[in-house]
Amino acid sequence: ILPTVPVDFATLEKRAQAALPPHVLSYVQGGCGDEWTQDQNAAAFRHWGMVPRMMVDCTRRDLSTELFGLKLPSPVFMAPIGVTGIMTQDLHGDLAAAKASALTGVPLCASTLSNDPLEKVAAEQGDTPGFFQLYTPRNKELAESLVRRAEAAGYKAIIVTLDTWVTGWRPRDLNTANFPQLRGAVLMNYFSDPVFRSGLAKPPEQDPVAAIQAWAAVFGKVLTWDDMPWLRGMTKLPLVLKGICHPDDVRRAIDLGADGIYCSNHGGRQANGGIAAIDMLPGVVEAAGSTPVLFDSGIRSGTDVIKAVALGARAVGVGRPYSYGLALGGAEGAASVLRAILAEADLLMAVNGYPTLDAVRAAGAQRT
Ligand code: FNR
Repeated sequence: ILPTVPVDFATLEKRAQAALPPHVLSYVQGGCGDEWTQDQNAAAFRHWGMVPRMMVDCTRRDLSTELFGLKLPSPVFMAPIGVTGIMTQDLHGDLAAAKASALTGVPLCASTLSNDPLEKVAAEQGDTPGFFQLYTPRNKELAESLVRRAEAAGYKAIIVTLDTWVTGWRPRDLNTANFPQLRGAVLMNYFSDPVFRSGLAKPPEQDPVAAIQAWAAVFGKVLTWDDMPWLRGMTKLPLVLKGICHPDDVRRAIDLGADGIYCSNHGGRQANGGIAAIDMLPGVVEAAGSTPVLFDSGIRSGTDVIKAVALGARAVGVGRPYSYGLALGGAEGAASVLRAILAEADLLMAVNGYPTLDAVRAAGAQRT
């Protein structure tokens, strides 16, 4: 069976580049500043290498992993991508991403910035467990309402993104005044929320401009460690903090009740000048001890996934690649990208003599 979209990232990106409208492309492909950190994220995988083991029966591989009591078929999940709606022509890219999750069994972390309400996204994920990513609004009541809705919709963890109380310096978007989130069509989690609606003079359907202004005023609470008791108390679901890269922050987060640490630099879209995320992973893993570490930023292939696992990640997020898959082929396109990444990871384990992820971790990866 031929894959729906190219199986290597370079060709995939080139094809998406040709297919996407310029404002969508610059939003998804672009990063911060001169994109040094974004480039480093992917390039840094090239200085980590693995050593194969021989005479190990790898006719069957087990890629499964345990996360928050869930048995997942592989360590791969779909990282939260806001404004995913615009990746498909019908503007329902969020539902297509959820469908790709259902098709592949790869969990989706649904973003707060969505063109379809989180309940509809959850319904499309079928039996595959999903996570909800929270951009914490300044209004605590609204934050609590979003979390309650995510719980009711069946999401299995709340992932709070810490690095985006304000959007980073993104020249591609700034030069063209391209801010897709301000077109309102991606604010459906807010527009459908009873707490958000109760603060408006007129419903968003009648006065979308006022609703967008209200959203801009409420987006992006500045979180500090003093907010952790509130965040922790908001939900009984596993609480994951996204954007943690410093070992001291890892220890503090765990002391204050985090169930998972998500090592990521937002794919180089928030702060330029930061070192590659994969280079920070070993320090995060060491500080986290038995607390699971999720990782993203720079994953482009199955080989990258296995390297991240070798460096201690319990779960590994794919970001831009599945967006390009959505752009080229909707749910099937994204599923095809995920299947290619999984197939490469599985085959790499087969030929490298690693039958399980524990074997991958035991083998480790070395800086070359
Ligand atoms: C993101 N990312 C992101 N993260 C998050 O917590 N909430 C969000 O809404 C978004 N939105 C978003 C949009 C787009 C277009 C991209 C590319 C990324 C960051 C995302 O979860 C992840 O950290 C990065 O995508 C990882 O980098 P790579 O591997 O995709 O380059």
